[in-house]
Amino acid sequence: MHKKIARWVQDKKSGIKRAVVTAYDYPFARLAAEAGVHGILVGDSLGMVVGGGGDTLGVTLEQMAYHTGMVVRGAGDCLVFADLPFGSYEKGPEQAWGAAVTLLRAGADVIKLEGGAEMASTVAFCSERGINVCAHIGLTPQRVRQWGSFQRQGTDVDSARRLQADAGALAEAGARFLVLEAVPDALAANITRDITIPTIGIGAGPDTDAQVLVMHDLLGLGTESPPFARRYIEGGRIMRDALAEYVREVGNSQFPPHRKR
Ligand code: KIV
Repeated sequence: MHKKIARWVQDKKSGIKRAVVTAYDYPFARLAAEAGVHGILVGDSLGMVVGGGGDTLGVTLEQMAYHTGMVVRGAGDCLVFADLPFGSYEKGPEQAWGAAVTLLRAGADVIKLEGGAEMASTVAFCSERGINVCAHIGLTPQRVRQWGSFQRQGTDVDSARRLQADAGALAEAGARFLVLEAVPDALAANITRDITIPTIGIGAGPDTDAQVLVMHDLLGLGTESPPFARRYIEGGRIMRDALAEYVREVGNSQFPPHRKR
């Protein structure tokens, strides 16, 4: 097993929590690495937070590879996860393997794919052929057009049971990590206890082995963030103020300063 992944498994056993954040380019990856973040996810959320789209479905494999390359150059010792985008893997294991190879060649350590037990054969095929897979269940944004909105999952007994079974099947198939998105805290805690691979939660309470946040939510760069995300700074306001000051200084000839010669 990759030394960095073995460390994650060890930390799960010891109850040491790990922090993951999304990044989509070199400067933000470098900031995350310098801050001591453990994992960087090149999420297909880039279609929304960077691309301004309403969902993630427009993101292509080529775009993911391009952004993964930028992130890897800034990621230092962080483990780099990259999303297989919608349409690049659902047809079957061989399609998924081909897409995963593209992201591995761009420098990713782990590829992430959305879906439950129906993806277990794909996870097994890829992991048996040298690819570290992170599975993602709960709110899986690539299915938003089927659901009609970004809905919390696992809120009734049947769907909670289904997610618990999905988690077991994906871990059994060889997934190295499991993202749990927008599920009840107690369900995330139960799944985390039941499986030996590290869980990474987002909107899933405090009991998962790691947390992931979208960088632009954490830094307050967007106009709104999901209710579970904490805006650690109002980065958008700070940057807008700096830009407005630049505009002012150019307007009143304060910038650039006059040179002596
Ligand atoms: O694309 C993404 O950023 C994600 C996280 C929200 C887990 O999948």
